[in-house]
Amino acid sequence: MDRRRFLQTSSLAGAAFAFTARTAWSATADAHVEVLLDESVGIIAPEIYGQFTEHLGGVIYDGIWVGEDSPVPNVHGIRKQIVDLMKQIHVPVVRWPGGCFADSYDWRDGIGPRKDRPTRTNFWADDPDAARLKGNAVQAYETNAFGTDEFMRFCHLSGAEPYLASNLRSLPAMAFSRWVEYCNSPAGSTTLAKQRAANGSAAPYDVKYWGVGNESWGCGGNFEPEEYAEEFRRFTTWVPHYGVPLSFIGSGPNDNNLEWTNGFFEALRRKNYMPRELHGWSVHYYTWNLSMGETTDWVAGKRDALDFDETGWYELFLQGLYMEEIVRAQWGLLGEFDPGRNIKLVVDEYGPWYKPGTQLDPTHLLGQQVTLRDALLTAMTLDIFNRHAEKVGMAACAQLVNCLNALFFSHEDKFITTPVFHVFDMYAAHQGAQSLRVNFSSPQVHYQRKGKPTALAGLLGSASMRGKTVTVTATNPNLKDARLTEIVLRGSARITSAEASVLTDADMHAHNTFEQPNAVQLKKQAVDVQGDRLIITLPPASVSSITIQLA
Ligand code: AHR
Repeated sequence: MDRRRFLQTSSLAGAAFAFTARTAWSATADAHVEVLLDESVGIIAPEIYGQFTEHLGGVIYDGIWVGEDSPVPNVHGIRKQIVDLMKQIHVPVVRWPGGCFADSYDWRDGIGPRKDRPTRTNFWADDPDAARLKGNAVQAYETNAFGTDEFMRFCHLSGAEPYLASNLRSLPAMAFSRWVEYCNSPAGSTTLAKQRAANGSAAPYDVKYWGVGNESWGCGGNFEPEEYAEEFRRFTTWVPHYGVPLSFIGSGPNDNNLEWTNGFFEALRRKNYMPRELHGWSVHYYTWNLSMGETTDWVAGKRDALDFDETGWYELFLQGLYMEEIVRAQWGLLGEFDPGRNIKLVVDEYGPWYKPGTQLDPTHLLGQQVTLRDALLTAMTLDIFNRHAEKVGMAACAQLVNCLNALFFSHEDKFITTPVFHVFDMYAAHQGAQSLRVNFSSPQVHYQRKGKPTALAGLLGSASMRGKTVTVTATNPNLKDARLTEIVLRGSARITSAEASVLTDADMHAHNTFEQPNAVQLKKQAVDVQGDRLIITLPPASVSSITIQLA
Protein backbone atom coordinates (compact mmCIF):
# COMPACT_ATOMS: atom_id res chain seq x y z
CA MET A 1 0.00 0.00 0.00
CA ASP A 2 1.43 3.36 -0.93
CA ARG A 3 1.32 6.60 0.97
CA ARG A 4 -1.40 8.11 -1.22
CA ARG A 5 -3.71 5.26 -0.40
CA PHE A 6 -3.02 5.61 3.32
CA LEU A 7 -4.09 9.20 3.20
CA GLN A 8 -7.15 8.42 1.10
CA THR A 9 -8.10 5.81 3.68
CA SER A 10 -7.74 8.26 6.51
CA SER A 11 -10.03 10.85 4.98
CA LEU A 12 -12.54 8.25 3.81
CA ALA A 13 -12.83 6.78 7.27
CA GLY A 14 -13.77 10.21 8.55
CA ALA A 15 -16.20 10.92 5.74
CA ALA A 16 -17.98 7.62 6.16
CA PHE A 17 -19.06 8.57 9.63
CA ALA A 18 -20.17 12.13 9.08
CA PHE A 19 -22.99 12.77 11.50
CA THR A 20 -26.31 14.48 10.82
CA ALA A 21 -27.94 15.86 13.94
CA ARG A 22 -31.73 15.99 13.98
CA THR A 23 -32.71 16.57 17.59
CA ALA A 24 -31.00 17.49 20.83
CA TRP A 25 -28.48 15.06 22.15
CA SER A 26 -27.50 14.34 25.70
CA ALA A 27 -25.08 17.02 26.83
CA THR A 28 -23.04 14.61 28.88
CA ALA A 29 -22.35 12.03 26.17
CA ASP A 30 -19.28 12.64 24.01
CA ALA A 31 -20.22 10.16 21.30
CA HIS A 32 -23.51 9.59 19.52
CA VAL A 33 -24.99 6.81 17.46
CA GLU A 34 -28.14 7.42 15.47
CA VAL A 35 -29.91 4.28 14.22
CA LEU A 36 -32.50 4.89 11.49
CA LEU A 37 -35.03 2.11 11.98
CA ASP A 38 -36.94 2.97 8.81
CA GLU A 39 -33.93 3.03 6.52
CA SER A 40 -32.87 -0.48 5.60
CA VAL A 41 -29.69 -0.97 3.60
CA GLY A 42 -30.56 -4.59 2.80
CA ILE A 43 -30.46 -8.01 4.40
CA ILE A 44 -27.09 -8.93 5.89
CA ALA A 45 -26.27 -12.17 4.08
CA PRO A 46 -25.42 -14.74 6.76
CA GLU A 47 -22.64 -15.87 4.41
CA ILE A 48 -20.73 -12.67 5.27
CA TYR A 49 -19.78 -14.52 8.45
CA GLY A 50 -18.04 -17.33 6.57
CA GLN A 51 -14.66 -18.94 7.23
CA PHE A 52 -11.75 -20.09 5.11
CA THR A 53 -9.83 -23.37 5.48
CA GLU A 54 -6.82 -24.32 3.40
CA HIS A 55 -4.40 -27.25 3.31
CA LEU A 56 -1.80 -25.00 4.77
CA GLY A 57 0.26 -25.51 7.92
CA GLY A 58 -1.94 -26.47 10.85
CA VAL A 59 -5.35 -25.59 9.41
CA ILE A 60 -6.59 -28.98 8.23
CA TYR A 61 -4.13 -31.33 9.93
CA ASP A 62 -3.98 -30.50 13.66
CA GLY A 63 -6.73 -27.88 13.37
CA ILE A 64 -9.67 -29.83 11.96
CA TRP A 65 -8.58 -33.37 11.16
CA VAL A 66 -7.13 -35.37 14.04
CA GLY A 67 -7.95 -38.82 12.63
CA GLU A 68 -10.40 -41.46 13.75
CA ASP A 69 -7.89 -43.20 16.05
CA SER A 70 -6.86 -40.01 17.82
CA PRO A 71 -7.18 -39.66 21.62
CA VAL A 72 -8.43 -36.11 20.87
CA PRO A 73 -12.25 -36.11 21.09
CA ASN A 74 -13.42 -36.40 17.49
CA VAL A 75 -16.38 -37.29 15.30
CA HIS A 76 -15.19 -39.54 12.46
CA GLY A 77 -11.72 -37.99 12.74
CA ILE A 78 -12.89 -34.36 12.97
CA ARG A 79 -11.99 -32.40 16.11
CA LYS A 80 -15.18 -32.20 18.15
CA GLN A 81 -14.44 -28.94 19.96
CA ILE A 82 -14.07 -26.99 16.74
CA VAL A 83 -17.38 -28.08 15.25
CA ASP A 84 -19.19 -27.46 18.54
CA LEU A 85 -17.92 -23.87 18.69
CA MET A 86 -18.56 -23.28 14.98
CA LYS A 87 -22.18 -24.20 15.65
CA GLN A 88 -22.28 -21.75 18.55
CA ILE A 89 -21.33 -18.83 16.29
CA HIS A 90 -23.45 -20.14 13.38
CA VAL A 91 -20.67 -20.36 10.80
CA PRO A 92 -22.78 -20.25 7.61
CA VAL A 93 -20.24 -21.28 4.98
CA VAL A 94 -16.69 -22.67 4.81
CA ARG A 95 -14.36 -22.21 1.84
CA TRP A 96 -11.97 -25.09 0.99
CA PRO A 97 -9.36 -26.40 -0.03
CA GLY A 98 -7.56 -23.09 -0.73
CA GLY A 99 -6.24 -20.52 -1.33
CA CYS A 100 -3.21 -21.12 -3.45
CA PHE A 101 -3.40 -24.81 -2.57
CA ALA A 102 -6.63 -25.14 -4.56
CA ASP A 103 -4.91 -24.55 -7.90
CA SER A 104 -2.52 -27.43 -7.33
CA TYR A 105 -5.09 -29.82 -5.88
CA ASP A 106 -6.65 -32.75 -7.67
CA TRP A 107 -9.89 -33.61 -5.88
CA ARG A 108 -9.63 -37.18 -7.18
CA ASP A 109 -6.62 -37.75 -4.90
CA GLY A 110 -8.80 -37.17 -1.83
CA ILE A 111 -11.57 -39.75 -2.25
CA GLY A 112 -11.82 -43.49 -1.62
CA PRO A 113 -10.16 -45.63 1.07
CA ARG A 114 -7.65 -43.48 2.90
CA LYS A 115 -4.90 -46.08 2.75
CA ASP A 116 -5.02 -45.96 -1.06
CA ARG A 117 -4.83 -42.20 -1.43
CA PRO A 118 -1.64 -40.79 -2.91
CA THR A 119 0.76 -38.49 -1.13
CA ARG A 120 1.52 -35.33 -3.11
CA THR A 121 3.72 -32.30 -2.75
CA ASN A 122 1.78 -29.51 -1.04
CA PHE A 123 1.69 -26.11 -2.73
CA TRP A 124 3.30 -24.66 0.40
CA ALA A 125 6.23 -27.13 0.48
CA ASP A 126 8.69 -24.44 -0.56
CA ASP A 127 7.56 -21.97 2.06
CA PRO A 128 10.68 -21.26 4.17
CA ASP A 129 8.87 -22.41 7.30
CA ALA A 130 7.78 -25.66 5.65
CA ALA A 131 11.36 -26.26 4.58
CA ARG A 132 12.51 -25.87 8.20
CA LEU A 133 10.27 -28.74 9.29
CA LYS A 134 12.17 -31.98 9.41
CA GLY A 135 11.01 -35.23 7.80
CA ASN A 136 7.92 -35.88 5.73
CA ALA A 137 5.69 -33.38 7.47
CA VAL A 138 2.16 -33.29 6.16
CA GLN A 139 2.67 -29.53 5.69
CA ALA A 140 5.06 -30.33 2.85
CA TYR A 141 3.67 -33.66 1.65
CA GLU A 142 -0.08 -33.83 1.49
CA THR A 143 -1.41 -37.26 2.50
CA ASN A 144 -4.92 -36.57 1.23
CA ALA A 145 -6.37 -38.05 4.43
CA PHE A 146 -8.81 -35.15 4.40
CA GLY A 147 -10.64 -34.91 1.09
CA THR A 148 -14.04 -34.04 -0.31
CA ASP A 149 -16.05 -36.52 1.79
CA GLU A 150 -14.28 -35.51 5.01
CA PHE A 151 -14.84 -31.84 4.20
CA MET A 152 -18.54 -32.46 3.57
CA ARG A 153 -18.80 -34.22 6.91
CA PHE A 154 -17.01 -31.31 8.58
CA CYS A 155 -19.53 -28.89 7.04
CA HIS A 156 -22.44 -31.08 8.05
CA LEU A 157 -21.19 -31.33 11.65
CA SER A 158 -20.57 -27.59 11.94
CA GLY A 159 -23.83 -26.58 10.23
CA ALA A 160 -22.05 -24.73 7.40
CA GLU A 161 -22.55 -24.73 3.62
CA PRO A 162 -19.55 -25.94 1.60
CA TYR A 163 -17.83 -23.51 -0.76
CA LEU A 164 -15.39 -25.40 -3.01
CA ALA A 165 -12.53 -23.60 -4.75
CA SER A 166 -11.68 -25.35 -8.02
CA ASN A 167 -8.32 -25.82 -9.68
CA LEU A 168 -8.19 -23.65 -12.80
CA ARG A 169 -4.43 -23.37 -13.15
CA SER A 170 -3.39 -27.01 -13.38
CA LEU A 171 -6.50 -29.08 -14.17
CA PRO A 172 -8.77 -28.92 -17.20
CA ALA A 173 -12.41 -27.81 -17.16
CA MET A 174 -13.48 -31.46 -17.33
CA ALA A 175 -12.05 -32.09 -13.84
CA PHE A 176 -14.16 -29.22 -12.51
CA SER A 177 -17.27 -30.56 -14.17
CA ARG A 178 -16.56 -34.00 -12.76
CA TRP A 179 -16.10 -32.61 -9.26
CA VAL A 180 -19.56 -31.04 -9.56
CA GLU A 181 -20.82 -34.43 -10.76
CA TYR A 182 -19.20 -36.26 -7.85
CA CYS A 183 -20.77 -33.85 -5.36
CA ASN A 184 -24.17 -33.25 -6.88
CA SER A 185 -25.30 -36.00 -9.25
CA PRO A 186 -28.37 -37.83 -7.89
CA ALA A 187 -28.00 -41.08 -5.93
CA GLY A 188 -27.33 -44.01 -8.23
CA SER A 189 -27.25 -41.87 -11.39
CA THR A 190 -23.62 -41.73 -12.51
CA THR A 191 -20.47 -43.71 -11.93
CA LEU A 192 -19.25 -40.88 -9.72
CA ALA A 193 -22.53 -40.90 -7.74
CA LYS A 194 -21.97 -44.60 -7.14
CA GLN A 195 -18.38 -43.91 -6.09
CA ARG A 196 -19.64 -41.24 -3.69
CA ALA A 197 -22.08 -43.78 -2.23
CA ALA A 198 -19.25 -46.26 -1.79
CA ASN A 199 -17.33 -43.50 -0.02
CA GLY A 200 -20.15 -42.96 2.47
CA SER A 201 -22.80 -40.72 0.94
CA ALA A 202 -25.43 -42.05 -1.42
CA ALA A 203 -27.23 -38.72 -1.12
CA PRO A 204 -25.76 -35.87 -3.17
CA TYR A 205 -24.01 -33.05 -1.32
CA ASP A 206 -25.85 -30.36 -3.33
CA VAL A 207 -22.88 -27.96 -3.29
CA LYS A 208 -23.99 -24.49 -4.42
CA TYR A 209 -20.87 -22.38 -4.11
CA TRP A 210 -18.01 -22.98 -6.55
CA GLY A 211 -14.95 -20.78 -6.78
CA VAL A 212 -13.57 -20.72 -10.35
CA GLY A 213 -9.86 -20.54 -9.58
CA ASN A 214 -8.15 -18.59 -6.80
CA GLU A 215 -6.03 -15.47 -7.19
CA SER A 216 -5.78 -16.16 -10.90
CA TRP A 217 -3.72 -12.97 -11.18
CA GLY A 218 -1.06 -14.60 -8.93
CA CYS A 219 -0.55 -18.11 -7.55
CA GLY A 220 -3.59 -19.24 -9.51
CA GLY A 221 -1.85 -18.91 -12.88
CA ASN A 222 -0.44 -15.40 -13.25
CA PHE A 223 -3.06 -14.72 -15.87
CA GLU A 224 -3.93 -11.47 -17.54
CA PRO A 225 -7.59 -10.67 -16.90
CA GLU A 226 -8.46 -11.44 -20.52
CA GLU A 227 -6.72 -14.83 -20.29
CA TYR A 228 -8.52 -15.61 -17.08
CA ALA A 229 -11.83 -14.67 -18.72
CA GLU A 230 -11.14 -17.22 -21.44
CA GLU A 231 -10.44 -19.96 -18.89
CA PHE A 232 -13.48 -18.88 -16.91
CA ARG A 233 -15.67 -19.33 -19.97
CA ARG A 234 -14.26 -22.76 -20.59
CA PHE A 235 -14.88 -23.79 -16.98
CA THR A 236 -18.37 -22.40 -16.57
CA THR A 237 -20.08 -23.12 -19.89
CA TRP A 238 -22.64 -25.91 -19.56
CA VAL A 239 -21.74 -27.18 -16.11
CA PRO A 240 -24.43 -29.70 -15.11
CA HIS A 241 -26.84 -28.44 -12.45
CA TYR A 242 -28.60 -31.57 -11.10
CA GLY A 243 -31.31 -29.26 -9.80
CA VAL A 244 -28.89 -27.30 -7.58
CA PRO A 245 -28.87 -23.49 -7.89
CA LEU A 246 -25.16 -23.22 -8.66
CA SER A 247 -23.38 -20.05 -7.66
CA PHE A 248 -20.01 -19.38 -9.30
CA ILE A 249 -17.49 -17.06 -7.70
CA GLY A 250 -15.02 -15.51 -10.12
CA SER A 251 -11.45 -14.89 -9.06
CA GLY A 252 -11.54 -11.16 -8.44
CA PRO A 253 -8.89 -8.57 -7.72
CA ASN A 254 -6.03 -8.34 -5.34
CA ASP A 255 -6.83 -5.40 -3.07
CA ASN A 256 -8.59 -2.80 -5.18
CA ASN A 257 -7.19 -3.66 -8.59
CA LEU A 258 -9.81 -2.12 -10.85
CA GLU A 259 -7.90 -3.00 -14.04
CA TRP A 260 -8.32 -6.70 -13.21
CA THR A 261 -12.07 -6.35 -12.69
CA ASN A 262 -12.50 -4.18 -15.74
CA GLY A 263 -10.33 -6.39 -17.98
CA PHE A 264 -12.18 -9.55 -16.98
CA PHE A 265 -15.69 -8.20 -17.44
CA GLU A 266 -14.81 -6.36 -20.66
CA ALA A 267 -13.53 -9.67 -22.04
CA LEU A 268 -16.76 -11.44 -21.05
CA ARG A 269 -18.77 -8.62 -22.60
CA ARG A 270 -16.88 -8.87 -25.89
CA LYS A 271 -17.98 -12.50 -26.05
CA ASN A 272 -21.48 -11.61 -24.91
CA TYR A 273 -21.01 -14.13 -22.12
CA MET A 274 -22.44 -13.56 -18.65
CA PRO A 275 -23.51 -16.87 -17.09
CA ARG A 276 -26.54 -16.61 -14.84
CA GLU A 277 -24.65 -18.67 -12.24
CA LEU A 278 -22.04 -15.94 -11.81
CA HIS A 279 -23.18 -14.60 -8.44
CA GLY A 280 -19.91 -13.67 -6.81
CA TRP A 281 -16.79 -11.67 -7.57
CA SER A 282 -14.09 -12.40 -5.03
CA VAL A 283 -11.94 -9.76 -3.36
CA HIS A 284 -8.80 -10.54 -1.35
CA TYR A 285 -7.56 -7.86 0.95
CA TYR A 286 -5.01 -8.53 3.67
CA THR A 287 -3.90 -5.89 6.12
CA TRP A 288 -0.15 -6.26 5.79
CA ASN A 289 0.59 -3.67 8.47
CA LEU A 290 3.67 -2.62 6.54
CA SER A 291 5.92 0.00 8.02
CA MET A 292 3.77 3.04 7.41
CA GLY A 293 4.02 3.00 3.66
CA GLU A 294 7.84 3.10 3.78
CA THR A 295 7.98 -0.15 1.90
CA THR A 296 5.76 -2.03 -0.46
CA ASP A 297 7.75 -5.21 0.14
CA TRP A 298 5.17 -7.36 1.81
CA VAL A 299 7.72 -10.03 2.73
CA ALA A 300 10.38 -7.90 4.39
CA GLY A 301 8.02 -5.14 5.43
CA LYS A 302 5.68 -7.19 7.57
CA ARG A 303 5.51 -6.39 11.25
CA ASP A 304 5.03 -8.42 14.42
CA ALA A 305 1.74 -9.74 15.76
CA LEU A 306 2.70 -9.11 19.39
CA ASP A 307 5.46 -6.54 19.38
CA PHE A 308 3.82 -3.22 18.47
CA ASP A 309 3.43 0.22 19.93
CA GLU A 310 0.61 2.74 19.95
CA THR A 311 1.33 3.77 16.38
CA GLY A 312 1.28 0.12 15.28
CA TRP A 313 -2.10 -0.26 16.94
CA TYR A 314 -3.68 2.62 15.01
CA GLU A 315 -1.83 1.94 11.75
CA LEU A 316 -3.41 -1.50 11.47
CA PHE A 317 -6.86 0.06 11.60
CA LEU A 318 -5.99 2.81 9.16
CA GLN A 319 -4.87 0.18 6.67
CA GLY A 320 -7.77 -2.17 7.44
CA LEU A 321 -10.40 0.53 6.92
CA TYR A 322 -9.32 0.74 3.30
CA MET A 323 -11.67 -2.24 2.89
CA GLU A 324 -14.57 0.20 2.70
CA GLU A 325 -13.02 1.99 -0.28
CA ILE A 326 -12.46 -1.37 -2.00
CA VAL A 327 -16.08 -2.39 -1.48
CA ARG A 328 -17.35 0.93 -2.83
CA ALA A 329 -15.00 1.09 -5.82
CA GLN A 330 -15.35 -2.54 -6.93
CA TRP A 331 -19.12 -2.38 -6.54
CA GLY A 332 -19.28 0.79 -8.58
CA LEU A 333 -17.32 -0.81 -11.40
CA LEU A 334 -19.30 -4.07 -11.27
CA GLY A 335 -22.46 -2.05 -11.81
CA GLU A 336 -21.24 -1.05 -15.27
CA PHE A 337 -21.26 -4.68 -16.36
CA ASP A 338 -24.05 -6.02 -14.20
CA PRO A 339 -26.76 -3.36 -13.94
CA GLY A 340 -29.23 -5.97 -12.63
CA ARG A 341 -26.94 -6.52 -9.64
CA ASN A 342 -26.85 -10.29 -9.92
CA ILE A 343 -23.20 -10.36 -8.88
CA LYS A 344 -22.21 -9.57 -5.29
CA LEU A 345 -18.79 -9.04 -3.81
CA VAL A 346 -17.33 -12.08 -2.05
CA VAL A 347 -14.49 -11.00 0.24
CA ASP A 348 -13.24 -14.53 0.72
CA GLU A 349 -9.83 -13.68 2.19
CA TYR A 350 -9.25 -10.87 4.67
CA GLY A 351 -7.47 -10.20 7.95
CA PRO A 352 -4.10 -9.01 9.22
CA TRP A 353 -0.92 -10.75 8.05
CA TYR A 354 2.19 -10.50 10.23
CA LYS A 355 5.70 -11.85 9.95
CA PRO A 356 6.33 -15.39 11.23
CA GLY A 357 7.52 -16.03 14.78
CA THR A 358 4.48 -15.93 17.03
CA GLN A 359 2.75 -19.10 15.82
CA LEU A 360 1.90 -21.57 18.58
CA ASP A 361 3.63 -24.48 16.87
CA PRO A 362 6.34 -24.55 14.17
CA THR A 363 4.09 -26.68 11.93
CA HIS A 364 1.55 -23.87 11.77
CA LEU A 365 2.76 -22.16 8.60
CA LEU A 366 1.50 -18.60 8.33
CA GLY A 367 0.43 -18.98 11.94
CA GLN A 368 0.49 -15.90 14.15
CA GLN A 369 -0.80 -14.82 17.54
CA VAL A 370 -4.16 -13.08 17.56
CA THR A 371 -4.52 -10.12 19.91
CA LEU A 372 -7.18 -7.67 20.98
CA ARG A 373 -5.93 -5.45 18.13
CA ASP A 374 -6.91 -8.12 15.61
CA ALA A 375 -10.32 -8.46 17.25
CA LEU A 376 -10.94 -4.74 16.71
CA LEU A 377 -9.79 -4.94 13.10
CA THR A 378 -12.08 -7.92 12.47
CA ALA A 379 -15.02 -6.12 14.08
CA MET A 380 -14.40 -3.01 11.95
CA THR A 381 -14.27 -5.20 8.84
CA LEU A 382 -17.51 -6.99 9.66
CA ASP A 383 -19.13 -3.63 10.37
CA ILE A 384 -18.09 -2.47 6.88
CA PHE A 385 -19.69 -5.57 5.37
CA ASN A 386 -22.87 -4.99 7.41
CA ARG A 387 -23.08 -1.36 6.37
CA HIS A 388 -22.71 -2.43 2.73
CA ALA A 389 -25.08 -5.37 2.98
CA GLU A 390 -26.49 -4.72 -0.49
CA LYS A 391 -22.99 -5.11 -1.98
CA VAL A 392 -21.28 -7.89 -0.03
CA GLY A 393 -22.86 -11.30 -0.53
CA MET A 394 -20.31 -13.50 1.18
CA ALA A 395 -16.98 -13.27 3.00
CA ALA A 396 -14.47 -15.62 4.59
CA CYS A 397 -12.02 -14.79 7.34
CA ALA A 398 -8.51 -16.04 6.58
CA GLN A 399 -8.25 -18.51 8.23
CA LEU A 400 -10.36 -20.55 10.67
CA VAL A 401 -7.69 -22.20 12.79
CA ASN A 402 -3.91 -22.01 13.37
CA CYS A 403 -3.35 -19.58 10.50
CA LEU A 404 -3.41 -15.78 10.09
CA ASN A 405 -6.54 -14.26 11.69
CA ALA A 406 -7.53 -17.50 13.40
CA LEU A 407 -10.62 -18.00 15.55
CA PHE A 408 -9.05 -21.07 17.15
CA PHE A 409 -5.65 -22.42 18.06
CA SER A 410 -5.07 -26.11 18.51
CA HIS A 411 -2.17 -28.43 18.80
CA GLU A 412 -2.67 -32.12 19.49
CA ASP A 413 -5.01 -32.21 22.51
CA LYS A 414 -4.78 -28.46 23.23
CA PHE A 415 -7.48 -26.18 21.93
CA ILE A 416 -8.40 -22.54 22.65
CA THR A 417 -10.42 -19.69 21.21
CA THR A 418 -8.89 -16.34 20.21
CA PRO A 419 -10.27 -12.80 20.61
CA VAL A 420 -11.43 -12.99 16.98
CA PHE A 421 -13.70 -15.91 17.90
CA HIS A 422 -15.41 -13.66 20.45
CA VAL A 423 -16.05 -11.04 17.76
CA PHE A 424 -17.81 -13.62 15.58
CA ASP A 425 -19.77 -14.69 18.65
CA MET A 426 -20.86 -11.10 19.38
CA TYR A 427 -21.69 -10.35 15.75
CA ALA A 428 -23.66 -13.54 14.99
CA ALA A 429 -26.92 -11.70 15.74
CA HIS A 430 -26.43 -9.62 12.57
CA GLN A 431 -26.70 -12.68 10.32
CA GLY A 432 -29.81 -12.48 8.17
CA ALA A 433 -31.02 -9.27 9.85
CA GLN A 434 -31.90 -5.97 8.11
CA SER A 435 -28.88 -3.70 7.99
CA LEU A 436 -29.97 -0.23 9.15
CA ARG A 437 -28.58 3.11 8.16
CA VAL A 438 -26.54 4.33 11.10
CA ASN A 439 -24.52 7.46 11.90
CA PHE A 440 -21.63 7.43 14.34
CA SER A 441 -20.20 10.63 15.71
CA SER A 442 -17.31 10.90 18.10
CA PRO A 443 -14.07 12.82 18.63
CA GLN A 444 -11.43 11.43 16.29
CA VAL A 445 -8.34 9.61 17.51
CA HIS A 446 -5.07 11.41 16.84
CA TYR A 447 -1.70 9.75 16.60
CA GLN A 448 1.70 10.39 15.08
CA ARG A 449 2.61 8.68 11.84
CA LYS A 450 6.02 9.47 10.47
CA GLY A 451 6.09 12.47 12.78
CA LYS A 452 2.85 13.87 11.40
CA PRO A 453 -0.42 14.08 13.33
CA THR A 454 -2.95 11.68 11.79
CA ALA A 455 -6.64 11.24 12.56
CA LEU A 456 -8.71 8.09 12.66
CA ALA A 457 -12.48 7.75 13.16
CA GLY A 458 -13.15 7.69 16.90
CA LEU A 459 -16.04 5.24 16.86
CA LEU A 460 -17.12 2.79 14.16
CA GLY A 461 -19.88 0.26 13.89
CA SER A 462 -23.09 -1.01 12.34
CA ALA A 463 -26.69 -1.77 13.28
CA SER A 464 -29.29 -4.29 12.25
CA MET A 465 -32.84 -5.30 13.11
CA ARG A 466 -34.62 -8.63 13.16
CA GLY A 467 -38.22 -8.56 14.36
CA LYS A 468 -38.22 -6.50 17.56
CA THR A 469 -34.51 -6.87 18.21
CA VAL A 470 -31.95 -4.24 17.22
CA THR A 471 -28.26 -5.09 17.40
CA VAL A 472 -25.65 -2.34 17.45
CA THR A 473 -21.98 -3.25 17.27
CA ALA A 474 -19.25 -0.67 17.85
CA THR A 475 -15.50 -0.42 18.19
CA ASN A 476 -13.69 2.23 20.18
CA PRO A 477 -10.09 2.20 18.90
CA ASN A 478 -8.96 4.94 21.30
CA LEU A 479 -6.29 3.50 23.59
CA LYS A 480 -6.84 6.00 26.39
CA ASP A 481 -10.36 7.41 26.34
CA ALA A 482 -13.61 5.66 27.07
CA ARG A 483 -16.57 7.05 25.10
CA LEU A 484 -19.73 7.87 26.96
CA THR A 485 -22.06 7.02 24.09
CA GLU A 486 -25.67 7.86 23.49
CA ILE A 487 -27.53 5.56 21.09
CA VAL A 488 -30.76 6.97 19.71
CA LEU A 489 -33.27 4.95 17.71
CA ARG A 490 -35.10 7.05 15.11
CA GLY A 491 -38.49 5.76 13.98
CA SER A 492 -41.00 5.82 16.82
CA ALA A 493 -39.69 2.88 18.78
CA ARG A 494 -39.96 2.27 22.49
CA ILE A 495 -37.11 0.37 24.05
CA THR A 496 -38.17 -2.21 26.60
CA SER A 497 -34.74 -3.49 27.56
CA ALA A 498 -31.14 -3.57 26.46
CA GLU A 499 -28.04 -5.51 27.31
CA ALA A 500 -24.46 -5.37 26.12
CA SER A 501 -21.29 -7.39 26.05
CA VAL A 502 -17.79 -6.04 25.59
CA LEU A 503 -14.38 -7.37 24.61
CA THR A 504 -11.53 -5.29 25.98
CA ASP A 505 -8.37 -5.32 28.07
CA ALA A 506 -6.07 -2.80 29.69
CA ASP A 507 -3.23 -4.27 27.61
CA MET A 508 -3.51 -3.67 23.86
CA HIS A 509 -1.39 -6.81 23.30
CA ALA A 510 -3.79 -9.06 25.24
CA HIS A 511 -4.21 -12.52 23.74
CA ASN A 512 -4.98 -16.09 24.71
CA THR A 513 -2.45 -18.89 25.01
CA PHE A 514 -2.66 -22.59 25.80
CA GLU A 515 -1.47 -21.68 29.30
CA GLN A 516 -3.89 -18.75 29.70
CA PRO A 517 -6.81 -19.64 27.47
CA ASN A 518 -9.21 -17.04 28.87
CA ALA A 519 -7.01 -13.97 29.17
CA VAL A 520 -9.31 -12.16 26.72
CA GLN A 521 -12.96 -12.94 27.05
CA LEU A 522 -16.39 -11.37 26.77
CA LYS A 523 -17.84 -9.44 29.71
CA LYS A 524 -21.24 -7.94 30.40
CA GLN A 525 -21.51 -4.15 30.12
CA ALA A 526 -24.08 -1.91 31.84
CA VAL A 527 -26.58 -0.04 29.63
CA ASP A 528 -28.88 2.72 30.82
CA VAL A 529 -32.20 2.87 28.91
CA GLN A 530 -33.84 6.32 28.73
CA GLY A 531 -37.00 6.24 26.56
CA ASP A 532 -36.00 6.02 22.88
CA ARG A 533 -32.29 6.16 23.67
CA LEU A 534 -29.67 4.48 25.76
CA ILE A 535 -26.40 5.44 27.33
CA ILE A 536 -23.41 3.14 27.47
CA THR A 537 -19.74 3.60 28.25
CA LEU A 538 -17.59 2.08 25.52
CA PRO A 539 -14.21 1.38 27.13
CA PRO A 540 -10.93 2.26 25.42
CA ALA A 541 -9.69 -0.40 23.00
CA SER A 542 -12.97 -2.27 22.89
CA VAL A 543 -15.55 -4.04 20.74
CA SER A 544 -19.12 -3.92 22.04
CA SER A 545 -22.37 -5.53 21.06
CA ILE A 546 -25.62 -3.99 22.29
CA THR A 547 -28.88 -5.90 22.01
CA ILE A 548 -31.98 -3.73 22.20
CA GLN A 549 -35.51 -5.07 22.57
CA LEU A 550 -38.34 -2.94 21.19
CA ALA A 551 -41.93 -2.90 22.43
O1 AHR B 1 -4.45 -17.30 3.12
C1 AHR B 1 -3.17 -17.56 2.68
C2 AHR B 1 -2.98 -17.32 1.19
O2 AHR B 1 -3.17 -15.96 0.92
C3 AHR B 1 -3.95 -18.01 0.28
O3 AHR B 1 -3.57 -19.29 -0.01
C4 AHR B 1 -3.91 -17.16 -0.95
O4 AHR B 1 -5.11 -17.20 -1.68
C5 AHR B 1 -3.58 -15.78 -0.42
O5 AHR B 1 -2.57 -15.17 -1.14
